[in-house]
Amino acid sequence: MSKRPDTLLLVDDEVDLVRGLARALEHALSIRVLTAGSGHEALGILEREAVALVVSDISMPEMDGMALLTRILEADPSQTVILMTAYGTIDVAVSAMKAGAWDFIQKPFAPDDLVRLVNRGMERHRLLRENRELTAKLAQHSGPAIVGKSQAMIRTLDTLGMLGQSDVTVLIRGETGTGKDLAARTIHESSKRKGKPFVTVNCPALPEGLLESELFGHKKGAFTNADKEKVGLFDEADGGTLFLDEIGDLSPSLQTKLLRVLQNREVHPLGAPSSHTIDVRILAATNQGLEAKLKDGSFRADLFYRLNVASVVMPSLREIPEDIPLLVEHFLFKAAKEMGQAPKKLSPALMAAVTSRQWPGNIRELENTLTGWAALTRGELIDLCELPSRQGDASSEFDPFFVPYLEQKEQIIERFTRDYIHRLLSETGGNIALSARKSAIKRQSLQKIIQRYGIDATFYRK
Ligand SMILES: Nc1ncnc2c1ncn2[C@@H]1O[C@H](COP(=O)(O)OP(=O)(O)OP(=O)(O)O)[C@@H](O)[C@H]1O
Ligand SMILES: [Mg+2]
Repeated sequence: MSKRPDTLLLVDDEVDLVRGLARALEHALSIRVLTAGSGHEALGILEREAVALVVSDISMPEMDGMALLTRILEADPSQTVILMTAYGTIDVAVSAMKAGAWDFIQKPFAPDDLVRLVNRGMERHRLLRENRELTAKLAQHSGPAIVGKSQAMIRTLDTLGMLGQSDVTVLIRGETGTGKDLAARTIHESSKRKGKPFVTVNCPALPEGLLESELFGHKKGAFTNADKEKVGLFDEADGGTLFLDEIGDLSPSLQTKLLRVLQNREVHPLGAPSSHTIDVRILAATNQGLEAKLKDGSFRADLFYRLNVASVVMPSLREIPEDIPLLVEHFLFKAAKEMGQAPKKLSPALMAAVTSRQWPGNIRELENTLTGWAALTRGELIDLCELPSRQGDASSEFDPFFVPYLEQKEQIIERFTRDYIHRLLSETGGNIALSARKSAIKRQSLQKIIQRYGIDATFYRK
């Protein structure tokens, strides 16, 4: 990863303000700050430089902040943009968010507030960049994208990469929706069998009699309805990989037959005079406690050991909560691409709810929920109140009111207090005594609040 500091581009026609803010940001965040006095100048810089974050004023002569925002997002829909709006133009700020700005800040503001916001914006930028790098890395092996940067996920990715280098049989374990299917494809795509067939057999989906002829094939007339010869899935996968999904549900007689294939590497189609050899790598997956089935004898131990030559366990979402924001961005990107729209994003409150909620259906449930939200909300910012009512919707278990009450209340009070104090101080020119009188807050309490929120009252001195 490069050591170069991230670059921020500050756009405003008020030259003095720009200079002061640039210095404050460089000092507080050790980032590189470039400045532009107009939208046109900003676009020129963006063409030449890799910019992590753009902070732009909304009201500028010629090209205003909204027009600049549109031009920036046309070139790169994932660019993080913060707009500075004049006080009292909340409707402008809202349309900026809808047009794809990542956040906004109302003027006048204390430099510290901008520092904090920029810091979060940089976080978002890094998250997106890591996601892209990870996807690119995986694409080199042309495998499907497994997203995640938690310790557990990195370890799993390493294991999958190693398994791709070998040709052993692998048992992929993990709860429902943890990405076992994706893992099997990843192993195949990173192996020397890439480009050859990858065939999935969903074991419980087929009745026993059918599954046997599906797997091994049959000759014409092998049984009553066999009026045509059928090539089995093992033969279809020849040279490639056969993925046996939900292996725990395989019937005892098929377990025996599968064991024979694994031992001898040959198959015997029904009604054929003899068997023939095959060159197929076997991957298997299960979301059940196979140990219990081994104990009560419903799954053959010898088959288990043949399948479990190597194994990998896909982590549940409970074990990797730190990957949730990355997965959210990933699935919203994916949904946007499919719908041909700019990616939507979650409001901070909704993101907090998504992160703290339990996801029994793991990544699959998270993906389905987000895809649904992306399709059902109009604005670019998905918020609690935007979500359609859940009445009669049994398919979605998501309850947005899962944000703990106190947490939600705190967030709202904080936002309100911050706005209130800034407005107060800007009206009184930073005069504490006057502010206390106007707001009917005791002077000492006011000072405490100002301190707690890290607001710089001197900033408002006229
Ligand atoms: N780490 C990940 N990054 C990105 N997408 C993922 C990840 N893990 C799973 N997914 C996506 O989540 C969905 C469910 O994954 P998958 O079908 O591989 O799970 P599974 O473990 O096979 O589930 P089941 O037990 O229900 O068969 C898929 O759309 C998959 O692309
Ligand atoms: Mg699966």
